[in-house]
Amino acid sequence: MKTLKLTAILTLVIFMNSGCLDQKNLKTENNHPVLNDVAAINLIINVDNRTTTSLNGKWPAIVDLFETGFYDYRYQENKWGFFDNYKPKNKSERVEYDFDTSQKLNVPGDWNSQYERLFFYEGTVWYKKSFDYKKKENKRIFVYIGAANYQTIVYLNGKKLGIHEGGFTPFNFEITDLIKEKDNYLVLKVDNKRKREAVPTVNTDWWNYGGITREVLLVEVSDTFIRDYFIQLKKGSLNTIAGWVQLDGSKKQQSITIEIPEAKIVNTVRTDDNGLAKFQFDAELDLWSPENPKLYDVVIKSETDTLKDTIGFRTIETKSSKILLNGKPVFLRGICIHEQKPNAPGRAYGPEDAETLLGWAKEMNCNFVRLAHYPHNEHMVRAADKMGLLVWSEIPVYWTITWQNKDTLNNALNQLTEMITRDKNRASVILWSMANETPPSDARNKFLLALHDRARQLDDTRLITAAMEKTYHEAEFTPVLNDPFGQHVDVLGCNEYIGWYYKKIEDCVKYNWKSIYDKPLIISEFGAGAKAGFHADKYTMWSEELQEYLYIEQVKMLENIDILAGVSPWILMDFRSPKRMLPEVQDYWNRKGLISPDGKKKKAFYIMQKFYKKIKDAQK
Ligand code: GCU
Repeated sequence: MKTLKLTAILTLVIFMNSGCLDQKNLKTENNHPVLNDVAAINLIINVDNRTTTSLNGKWPAIVDLFETGFYDYRYQENKWGFFDNYKPKNKSERVEYDFDTSQKLNVPGDWNSQYERLFFYEGTVWYKKSFDYKKKENKRIFVYIGAANYQTIVYLNGKKLGIHEGGFTPFNFEITDLIKEKDNYLVLKVDNKRKREAVPTVNTDWWNYGGITREVLLVEVSDTFIRDYFIQLKKGSLNTIAGWVQLDGSKKQQSITIEIPEAKIVNTVRTDDNGLAKFQFDAELDLWSPENPKLYDVVIKSETDTLKDTIGFRTIETKSSKILLNGKPVFLRGICIHEQKPNAPGRAYGPEDAETLLGWAKEMNCNFVRLAHYPHNEHMVRAADKMGLLVWSEIPVYWTITWQNKDTLNNALNQLTEMITRDKNRASVILWSMANETPPSDARNKFLLALHDRARQLDDTRLITAAMEKTYHEAEFTPVLNDPFGQHVDVLGCNEYIGWYYKKIEDCVKYNWKSIYDKPLIISEFGAGAKAGFHADKYTMWSEELQEYLYIEQVKMLENIDILAGVSPWILMDFRSPKRMLPEVQDYWNRKGLISPDGKKKKAFYIMQKFYKKIKDAQK
């Protein structure tokens, strides 16, 4: 047996060294697909610090309900689709579409909030952007899309570049050999139709905002450039930086220098024949925390490229039911946030939106935000880095996903990979959440375990969690956290709506929470709806007083949960939902916000502000 085993190992070692091992077929011990062990996809990170040309602005757009611009009347892909941007050659030629005389849509921006007749629209919209580009010697060009919801096909000058699925993560395509000096036309087919097998599936309690919802940039890079890197403190160490740099291009083997000038760090490594260099070096650093959101200028230099980033350094771990930030217990004083624009309609996307939303969280004395239920735009996590807010980041594996569908799993794995690839150098991000309120079953457990394995593989420094809800009750007011996925996560998330969806508000204080796991618990949602400005007694539904009463009673319960390491009430601000139809109260708004969409704070806001101030002062 021994000989056989040894041979097997040798074979694997030889096979891997030859570089011919197909990484896609490697399986983890849980028999789940794994990517190569580092830069998993060709996503370019840190685009804001690169040479870019913005294509943001007003794009001509064609609303194409029956996908006439894509399928012919036999429902076959049309060779002369709208991606061709065809113009009639003479007055007799028939062409039944024209971008340049079509309506315009702002990019970035969802289409639902730009035209009344698109408010409920779910389907395809074609976008076209014409531009010239002066290409430089030895430069490569990529088109980078911050996000487009939900499925996007990208064409340049009539040629299909590729397709992307997922409405909340970035993607890019190389266009070096396709781009012309004059009259380029970039066409995007964006389709936000909900599909049973998609991620998320057809049923969500948030608006299905469609469109190019984040920036579109042309990214100009060197022939061989620094595409991806991971520079963070090594898991469990306060003074060792560990990471890697991944080059993209023909000159694979290069000398790479990582500099942190303020910390007097200069470290040189060499990339291998895959363009990858892993490193580890000592570093005496001023650690990042909400109280001290210290960010360092980091300069990564190769022989052909130089890239700057601003990175904070901290550790995050758990010990029994505590979360440890830089080795010390921290209580997460949080709030949930949807990507709903404050003081204006539609999907939030810009730095101003981030500052407003996170500014309100800081005003509530938060040190933590749960960015629900999908990866938010990069401005949010970079603002959290600067403002000192810890972040829970999540993929939209929400409610009743088609757990047995392999394509669904690969889609979720891809969105998870894109989320981690983009944000793995952000000190504020401490939790990767695999899911929200998914009903336990063997298929679901296996699906979530595959996500867990991928997250662990891509980033072993952060904590893994999920917002679970399944609890059985030992007695009427004794819920026991026992979700089977709880055995794999580092931190238990649990959504509960005591006093709103079940039981009475006055029952909150009777609850005695237990867990079969010796792990930290975050109550990742609780809440109640209230129409801002509607006042009545505390038993009147939709009054600010009822919401305030529920928060008062919930806080009493929270103070009695000894494994509680954090809380993020649902939710900072009212948000659009197709499931909330009560006229005069909801009108397609979920009213659980502590702030109204036009910035009015409801009475319950001050309950959390006071609760968190008490915790904050007690820690001084
Ligand atoms: C659930 C869910 C949220 C939803 C909330 C509500 O917990 O996670 O997405 O909006 O409840 O009912 O308002």
